[in-house]
Amino acid sequence: MNKPAASKLGLAVLISGNGSNLQAIIDRIAAGTLDAEIRIVISNTADAYGLQRAARAGIPYTVIDHAAFANREAFDAALIDTLERSDGIDLVVLAGFMRILTAAFIDRYAHRIINIHPSLLPKYPGLDTHQRVLDAGDQEHGASVHFVTTDLDAGPVIIQARVPVMPDDTPERLQKRVHSVEYQIFPQAIQWIAEGRLQISGDSVLLDGARSPSQD
Ligand code: GRF
Repeated sequence: MNKPAASKLGLAVLISGNGSNLQAIIDRIAAGTLDAEIRIVISNTADAYGLQRAARAGIPYTVIDHAAFANREAFDAALIDTLERSDGIDLVVLAGFMRILTAAFIDRYAHRIINIHPSLLPKYPGLDTHQRVLDAGDQEHGASVHFVTTDLDAGPVIIQARVPVMPDDTPERLQKRVHSVEYQIFPQAIQWIAEGRLQISGDSVLLDGARSPSQD
C-alpha cells in the first residue's frame, strides 16, 4: 500500500452485491472527474452483480468467499493477503460490503478505509436504515461517507447528504433517493483523499483544515 508520488490514488473496492456505488466510481473515473484508479474489486460472494460491472470495465476482480473460512480472522487474513499482493492500493473502499471487519484488518489500514452508510450517522448505524427511518417518522434521511474504525458505522464522517422523506415513501423509494445522493458523495470523498485535502482530527474530519465538510 505505497503510493509513488506522481501516481493516481489506487483503490481496492470491496463489495457484496449490486455494486451501483462501484459503478458510480467507475463512471466518475471514466469521466475524468475522479483522480483514482480501481486496482482490484473484491467480493465476498460469487454472485455479486458488481463483479460483472468490474469485468465490463476491465478491472481485475476476485471472490473471497467468507463461507470458506472458519472465522472472521481467517477471512480477513485472506483479504489482507490479496490486498498486499495487489500493487499500489492506497485506499480500501467499502461499497456495500456486508462483512464486519476485524480490528486486525482495520488497524492495519488505519485511516485508509472508507465506507458508505445509508443514514445520517450517528443516526441508524447497522441494517434496515430506510425502514427504521420510516418507523421513526423522520422527515429527513440521507447517507454518510466515513473513515472506518473498530466502532461499527461510527468512524469520523467525511461527507453527508440529506434527502427528504415523503409521506407516501416505502423503504424501496427511500432507498432509491438515498442511492442517488450516494453516487455523488462517495466519489467526492475519494477525490478529496486523492487531492490530499482531508485530515482526521479526533472524531472529526477536516477538509482543507476546516471542520464539518458536508453536502446538503
Ligand atoms: C448502499 O446503500 C450503501 O450505503 C450500503 O450498501 C448499499 C450498497 O449498494 N452500504 P450498491 O451495492 O452499491 O448498489
